[in-house]
Amino acid sequence: MAYSEKVIDHYENPRNVGKMDDKDPSVGTGMVGAPACGDVMRLQIKVDETGVIEDAKFKTYGCGSAIASSSLATEWMKGRTLDEAAEIRNTQIAEELALPPVKIHCSVLAEDAIKAAIDDYRKKNDSAA
Ligand code: FES
Ligand code: FES
Repeated sequence: MAYSEKVIDHYENPRNVGKMDDKDPSVGTGMVGAPACGDVMRLQIKVDETGVIEDAKFKTYGCGSAIASSSLATEWMKGRTLDEAAEIRNTQIAEELALPPVKIHCSVLAEDAIKAAIDDYRKKNDSAA
Protein backbone atom coordinates (compact mmCIF):
# COMPACT_ATOMS: atom_id res chain seq x y z
CA MET A 1 0.00 0.00 0.00
CA ALA A 2 1.27 3.49 -0.84
CA TYR A 3 1.44 6.02 1.95
CA SER A 4 0.51 9.59 1.14
CA GLU A 5 3.24 12.22 1.08
CA LYS A 6 1.85 13.80 4.24
CA VAL A 7 2.03 10.49 6.11
CA ILE A 8 5.62 9.98 5.02
CA ASP A 9 6.51 13.55 6.01
CA HIS A 10 5.10 13.12 9.52
CA TYR A 11 6.65 9.67 9.79
CA GLU A 12 10.11 10.87 8.81
CA ASN A 13 9.90 14.19 10.64
CA PRO A 14 7.49 13.55 13.49
CA ARG A 15 6.47 16.74 15.32
CA ASN A 16 6.52 16.90 19.08
CA VAL A 17 7.82 13.44 19.98
CA GLY A 18 8.55 13.23 23.67
CA LYS A 19 7.34 12.82 27.19
CA MET A 20 6.07 15.16 29.87
CA ASP A 21 6.04 14.72 33.63
CA ASP A 22 2.70 13.15 34.41
CA LYS A 23 2.93 14.31 38.03
CA ASP A 24 2.71 17.91 36.85
CA PRO A 25 -0.94 18.93 37.45
CA SER A 26 -0.95 21.02 34.27
CA VAL A 27 -0.20 17.89 32.21
CA GLY A 28 -2.86 15.50 30.91
CA THR A 29 -1.88 12.06 29.63
CA GLY A 30 -3.83 9.85 27.26
CA MET A 31 -2.66 6.30 26.71
CA VAL A 32 -4.69 4.24 24.27
CA GLY A 33 -4.34 1.02 22.33
CA ALA A 34 -5.88 -0.23 19.11
CA PRO A 35 -7.49 -3.64 19.62
CA ALA A 36 -7.28 -4.28 15.87
CA CYS A 37 -3.49 -4.29 15.71
CA GLY A 38 -2.07 -3.78 19.21
CA ASP A 39 -0.50 -0.41 18.42
CA VAL A 40 -0.20 1.94 21.39
CA MET A 41 -0.23 5.72 21.50
CA ARG A 42 0.64 8.09 24.33
CA LEU A 43 -0.44 11.70 23.90
CA GLN A 44 0.23 14.41 26.48
CA ILE A 45 -0.89 18.00 26.76
CA LYS A 46 0.29 20.89 28.91
CA VAL A 47 -2.43 23.40 29.67
CA ASP A 48 -1.83 26.99 30.75
CA GLU A 49 -3.84 28.85 33.39
CA THR A 50 -6.30 30.17 30.79
CA GLY A 51 -7.22 26.66 29.61
CA VAL A 52 -5.20 26.81 26.39
CA ILE A 53 -2.99 23.90 25.35
CA GLU A 54 0.48 25.39 25.29
CA ASP A 55 2.35 22.21 24.43
CA ALA A 56 1.63 18.67 23.24
CA LYS A 57 3.84 15.61 22.96
CA PHE A 58 3.36 12.06 21.77
CA LYS A 59 5.01 8.69 21.57
CA THR A 60 3.48 6.06 19.36
CA TYR A 61 4.45 2.42 19.16
CA GLY A 62 2.79 1.59 15.91
CA CYS A 63 2.44 1.90 12.20
CA GLY A 64 3.36 4.88 10.04
CA SER A 65 -0.23 6.08 9.85
CA ALA A 66 -0.60 6.00 13.64
CA ILE A 67 2.65 7.95 14.07
CA ALA A 68 1.55 10.48 11.44
CA SER A 69 -1.93 10.77 13.00
CA SER A 70 -0.55 11.48 16.45
CA SER A 71 2.09 13.88 15.10
CA LEU A 72 -0.63 15.82 13.30
CA ALA A 73 -2.87 15.72 16.39
CA THR A 74 -0.18 17.40 18.53
CA GLU A 75 0.24 20.12 15.90
CA TRP A 76 -3.49 20.77 15.77
CA MET A 77 -3.94 20.80 19.56
CA LYS A 78 -1.32 23.42 20.32
CA GLY A 79 -2.87 26.84 20.84
CA ARG A 80 -6.41 25.48 21.13
CA THR A 81 -8.61 25.51 24.20
CA LEU A 82 -9.53 22.12 25.65
CA ASP A 83 -13.04 22.42 24.18
CA GLU A 84 -11.65 23.24 20.75
CA ALA A 85 -9.15 20.37 20.90
CA ALA A 86 -11.93 17.98 21.94
CA GLU A 87 -13.62 18.75 18.63
CA ILE A 88 -10.81 17.30 16.52
CA ARG A 89 -12.27 14.30 14.70
CA ASN A 90 -10.52 11.27 13.32
CA THR A 91 -12.22 11.96 9.99
CA GLN A 92 -10.37 15.30 9.75
CA ILE A 93 -7.07 13.58 10.47
CA ALA A 94 -7.79 10.81 7.96
CA GLU A 95 -8.71 13.38 5.34
CA GLU A 96 -5.64 15.56 5.94
CA LEU A 97 -3.36 12.51 5.68
CA ALA A 98 -5.36 10.84 2.88
CA LEU A 99 -5.51 7.59 4.87
CA PRO A 100 -6.86 4.55 3.03
CA PRO A 101 -9.82 2.64 4.57
CA VAL A 102 -7.64 -0.01 6.29
CA LYS A 103 -5.78 2.79 8.09
CA ILE A 104 -8.80 4.70 9.36
CA HIS A 105 -8.50 3.03 12.78
CA CYS A 106 -5.05 4.64 13.13
CA SER A 107 -6.73 8.06 13.08
CA VAL A 108 -9.39 6.79 15.50
CA LEU A 109 -6.56 5.94 17.86
CA ALA A 110 -5.40 9.57 17.66
CA GLU A 111 -8.90 10.88 18.41
CA ASP A 112 -9.16 8.49 21.36
CA ALA A 113 -5.76 9.66 22.63
CA ILE A 114 -6.79 13.33 22.36
CA LYS A 115 -9.95 12.66 24.37
CA ALA A 116 -8.08 10.56 26.95
CA ALA A 117 -5.48 13.30 27.48
CA ILE A 118 -8.18 15.96 27.92
CA ASP A 119 -10.17 13.72 30.30
CA ASP A 120 -7.06 13.04 32.35
CA TYR A 121 -6.27 16.75 32.61
CA ARG A 122 -9.87 17.52 33.63
CA LYS A 123 -9.87 14.79 36.26
CA LYS A 124 -6.71 16.22 37.78
CA ASN A 125 -8.07 19.78 37.67
CA ASP A 126 -11.73 19.49 38.59
CA SER A 127 -12.52 23.19 38.55
CA ALA A 128 -10.42 24.10 35.52
CA ALA A 129 -11.78 24.92 32.07
FE1 FES B 1 1.74 -3.45 12.82
FE2 FES B 1 0.27 -1.27 13.32
S1 FES B 1 -0.38 -3.22 12.77
S2 FES B 1 2.40 -1.52 13.32
FE1 FES C 1 -3.14 -0.10 13.81
FE2 FES C 1 -2.12 1.81 12.39
S1 FES C 1 -2.31 -0.26 11.84
S2 FES C 1 -2.82 1.92 14.40
